[in-house]
This record gives sequence, C-alpha cells and structure tokens, in this order.
Amino acid sequence: MKNEINVLVTGAAGQIGYALLPRLVSGEAFGPNTTVNLKLVEVPQVVDKLQGIIMELEDCGFSSLGTVEAYSDIFEAAHNVDWALLVGSIPRGITINGKKIEERGDLLRINGGIFTDQGKAIGENAKSDAKVLVVGNPANTNALIGMTHAKNPSQTWMAMTALDANRAKAQVSIKTGKAISKIKNMIIWGNHSPTMYPDLDNAYADGEIASTVINDDSWIEEDFLEIVQQRGKAIIDARGASSAASAANGAIDTVKQASNPTEEGNCFSAGILSDGSYGVPEGLIFGYPLKTTREGKIEIIQGLELNNYAKQKLNITISELQEEKEAVKDLI
Ligand SMILES: NC(=O)c1ccc[n+]([C@@H]2O[C@H](COP(=O)([O-])OP(=O)(O)OC[C@H]3O[C@@H](n4cnc5c(N)ncnc54)[C@H](O)[C@@H]3O)[C@@H](O)[C@H]2O)c1
Repeated sequence: MKNEINVLVTGAAGQIGYALLPRLVSGEAFGPNTTVNLKLVEVPQVVDKLQGIIMELEDCGFSSLGTVEAYSDIFEAAHNVDWALLVGSIPRGITINGKKIEERGDLLRINGGIFTDQGKAIGENAKSDAKVLVVGNPANTNALIGMTHAKNPSQTWMAMTALDANRAKAQVSIKTGKAISKIKNMIIWGNHSPTMYPDLDNAYADGEIASTVINDDSWIEEDFLEIVQQRGKAIIDARGASSAASAANGAIDTVKQASNPTEEGNCFSAGILSDGSYGVPEGLIFGYPLKTTREGKIEIIQGLELNNYAKQKLNITISELQEEKEAVKDLI
C-alpha cells in the first residue's frame, strides 16, 4: 500500500522552487512507495505562474506525484501538512516602496514579517509532528520567528545549512582525493551566513579525522573557510544569479536525512533551536550536528570536542545570531 504525504513549498515559482519540485515528487525524497501531494504557495502577483510548473510536473510522469494545488493564502495551504519547505522570501537589492533593500536589518524585518504569518499558519493548521525547513534567508532568524509564532513545540523547525555542509564536503574531497561519499560528520556550526563554522576537526575523510588527513592548517584556516563561507557570493558573481540547483539539492538532502535514521558515526547539518548544548545560549536557531532517531525524532549529537580555535569561531557566529535576534525582537 502507498503512503501519502502532504508537502508545502513557499516561493514555489522561484528558481530554487523550479529545481526543487521535480525532485520532491520523483520518488527520491520520500521513497518510491510514498505519494507526494504538493501545496505550492506564492505571492498573489505570481500565483498564476505556478500553472506552468504544475503542467511540467504532470508531464514528467512521476508515479509518486499526487495532487498539486496552488495557493496565495498560507493559512489555507498549511492544512494537514507533514513537511513545509519555506523557500519564499524577499532577496537583498529589491526595491520596496521606493527604497532599495540593502541593509541586513531591513531584510531581517521584511522577511521576518513574512515568517510571523507562516509560523502561525503552520502552528495552527499543519500536523502536530510536522517538520519545517526554512531555506529563505536569513534562514536561521526567519526560522526563529516562524517557530515562535507557531507555538507548537511538537513540530520541528530547522534552518537549512545542508548546502554549506555539501560545499565543505566537496572541498575536502577535492583536497584529499577521497570520494565524497567517504566524507562524513561534516558539521556547520552556527548561522547560515559567512560567520558559519565548518568543522574539519570532527569531520572524517575515509574514516580518519579530516584535519589530520589534510595536515595543512593554513589551507584549512584561510582557503577552506573562505571558499565555503563565500561560496554563495562566488556563484552569484559567476552565474549572475544565486545558487538554485545546489540549494534545492541541500533541501532534498535535509528531507531525506530528517526522515531516515542517521547511521552511527555520522550526522547531518541544520539549524535547530539551541538548548544550551556546546555553550550556545538557549533560544537561537543554531547550526548543530544532528541525528534522526529510529522513532523519527531529531536530536543534537552530544559529546564532540571543540578546541579553542573552534570555540572562538562559535562565539563569532553566536554574536551574529544574537544581533539578528535583537534586530527583530518585536517580532518574536
Ligand atoms: N539556506 C540556504 O542554503 C540558501 C541557499 C540559496 C538560497 N537561499 C535563499 O532562498 C531564497 C529563495 O531563493 P530563490 O533563488 O528561489 O529566489 P527567487 O527570487 O527566485 O524566488 C523566491 C520566490 O519567493 C516568492 N515569495 C516571496 N515572498 C513570498 C511569500 N510571502 N510567500 C510565498 N512566496 C513568496 C517570490 O514570489 C519568488 O517567486 C532566498 O532567500 C535565498 O537567499 C538559501
């Protein structure tokens, strides 16, 4: 018998949406025995464009495709949802009411406003065990706003850092010559922003500590960190548009990792509500090493060592998240 799952995607007509939707219904994300019903959400001015992607999804002929519905009202769309992928947000550089949105503070406030309603809608109308992945930037603080307004602690809110983890794994694979499938336990600590800390002292390359295999601190502390932290900008500079295929891939990876038990000795990366683990103040959405238990619960992996260098890096990204939280304090 086939299972059914209801998946909500905001920003569905955007470029990440275009790369993401076929992979949600191809059988890859939820397995071949699950029928995926899509609830696509867009702003009212754009919602009609969704008919184009709906036609394309039909034309792909995926046997996992269930119903597809287009919405501009998040409260209607959120009914009975198992997974919500919150991709839609306003990008930096857009002009709103004659003002170009360049400052992080303005971006935080505008997108924060979107996530208050999305949080309420998901808290009230989605399933009690719904999982929510925030992709739209600033992802960690948007997730904090959404989760606060959802007021539904049995739901799990995450911010996407899987793309950063995949970028870090790719660089380690290139540097060491080890297959990417052998690069494990790649943790992105902190914010999905240039302050994130990709941790090579707890990652493994073919069973050995990655930083030991690389044995080149100046490459790790300068080249590697810079490449991973600035990869988003490098792609915009080269492509003239932000990463979409790899961002969609990060979302699919997170769905798979959060839906299936995590193998021993490995973790997955996402931002989740901090509970004080690793000295991070409570009440931030913070990138942690995570595992999915056999019961489908997502937990922070405990007991990893952080050296002084790593602790310094964590303090930088903690401060940034505290500043972001302060900038939207009236929204949470
Ligand atoms: N976390 C990550 O690793 C990561 C990686 C890449 C991009 N991103 C972020 O993902 C977001 C989307 O990127 P994109 O390239 O698809 O952008 P895009 O501009 O192509 O698409 C965004 C879509 O969101 C829609 N939208 C805006 N507000 C909405 C709302 N309130 N409800 C529903 N839809 C809404 C827009 O109409 C647009 O179609 C951006 O914020 C980007 O910065 C995050």
